[in-house]
Amino acid sequence: MKPPITFAIAGFGDRGSTYASMQQLFPDKMKVVAVADLDPRKVRRAQELYDIPAENCFASAEALLEQEKLADVLVVSTMDRQHVDHAIPALKKGYNILMEKPISPDLDKCREILEVAAHSPGKIIVCHVLRYTVFYNTLKELLTSGRIGDVVSVCAAENVAYWHQAHSFVRGNWRNSVETSPMILQKSCHDMDIFTWLLDSRCKAVSSMGETRLFKESCAPEGSTAYCLGGCKAKETCPFDAEKIYITNPATGSMHHPGGWPATVLAPGGGPEEVREALRNGQYGRCVYRCDNDVVDHQQTLLLMENGVTVSFSMCAFTEKCYRTFKAMGTQGEIEADLLSNTIRVQRFGEEAEVIDVKTLASDLKGHGGGDSGIVADFLDMLINDREATPRTTTLPNSMESHYMALAAEESRINGGKLIDMDAFRAGR
Ligand SMILES: NC(=O)c1ccc[n+]([C@@H]2O[C@H](COP(=O)([O-])OP(=O)(O)OC[C@H]3O[C@@H](n4cnc5c(N)ncnc54)[C@H](O)[C@@H]3O)[C@@H](O)[C@H]2O)c1
Repeated sequence: MKPPITFAIAGFGDRGSTYASMQQLFPDKMKVVAVADLDPRKVRRAQELYDIPAENCFASAEALLEQEKLADVLVVSTMDRQHVDHAIPALKKGYNILMEKPISPDLDKCREILEVAAHSPGKIIVCHVLRYTVFYNTLKELLTSGRIGDVVSVCAAENVAYWHQAHSFVRGNWRNSVETSPMILQKSCHDMDIFTWLLDSRCKAVSSMGETRLFKESCAPEGSTAYCLGGCKAKETCPFDAEKIYITNPATGSMHHPGGWPATVLAPGGGPEEVREALRNGQYGRCVYRCDNDVVDHQQTLLLMENGVTVSFSMCAFTEKCYRTFKAMGTQGEIEADLLSNTIRVQRFGEEAEVIDVKTLASDLKGHGGGDSGIVADFLDMLINDREATPRTTTLPNSMESHYMALAAEESRINGGKLIDMDAFRAGR
């Protein structure tokens, strides 16, 4: 038997620790041997979990990258604007790379790494995890088989959920597009990637509209204060109250899910008292109407694909739950798919509908519907068997198209919905 593929993790946050945890699923195939994070508690945790020698534990990705190559794979799971600067030196050292999306919000940076990767021996894939789910693979098979004829139009939605918007896009890491990315890239480069893959076409033109409707000071209720635990008089009726979201809410609070996300982001132990302490004056305890956020809370995007299919896509904060829906309308029928119930309903015109329960087809539906383990399994297979990319592999060039689409949508939105010609946009005109 071949020795396991060795992994170094740059950024042992939520995503880096998730990929590392796949060692439990694939113990004969992968082994975490090095880690880097700015937070020494995270480094210590990784060291304990994976028995990493002290000399392979680093206080930054930069320090890890000063060393000789330490592993077969580097997982680049630092923040959006750091990925390219961490991945390029690693490619030059001969690492294979599992890189979190987005590649970068800066298209010049994206082009730079494409160029370096083309001349480097290592393989690199981008974590568009949805392509590795049974749900989207079933959809792909159905659409390719022609069951509903030729696809004419698609209507899709990313239901962000009000509490997830408040956590990630108002109070949290992705609230400010200058520090990280515009929301349509951060959240929905996945959706753009899925459209090009499912419809087997690049995009020809984009128009997009949206804004921050609610999460701004002018919408703050009377009596509200800078921190939810600072004597806010609107607290009781405010669904965005940090104490509800992180402690008491049955779906998201640490009282009901000790040690669960999202409370662990602010309090690694996740216990209610630790969370309450973090909320008193911390970033996640702030009033959602008084943060330094600038990303949208709703955005509608229209896409015309090169093969003529039209797509309307809605990304919206104002939903109870966090899930995606996808409806394809073809010349001979329609398909309605929903990741909340994990079902796909195929209706050929004039015939009885078939409902596919994806739960009965997939062994793992955790972590992006099984996509987190799916991408690691595919990457291990590529490396162990020296396989080339398959049509579903999220290579850098594949991922680039989703970045062009998302960033064109953002340019259109900023310009009041202006129609963007994608050939010109790709060429930087
Ligand atoms: N594929 C997906 O579905 C998906 C989902 C969520 C987030 N992401 C992306 O994954 C990336 C990480 O997100 P996350 O949720 O894990 O965030 P996180 O904040 O939990 O983790 C990022 C980690 O990087 C560390 N870090 C920052 N600078 C560093 C440096 N110079 N050297 C070493 N470590 C450093 C931070 O201390 C932190 O622990 C982001 O780019 C995000 O957009 C992808």
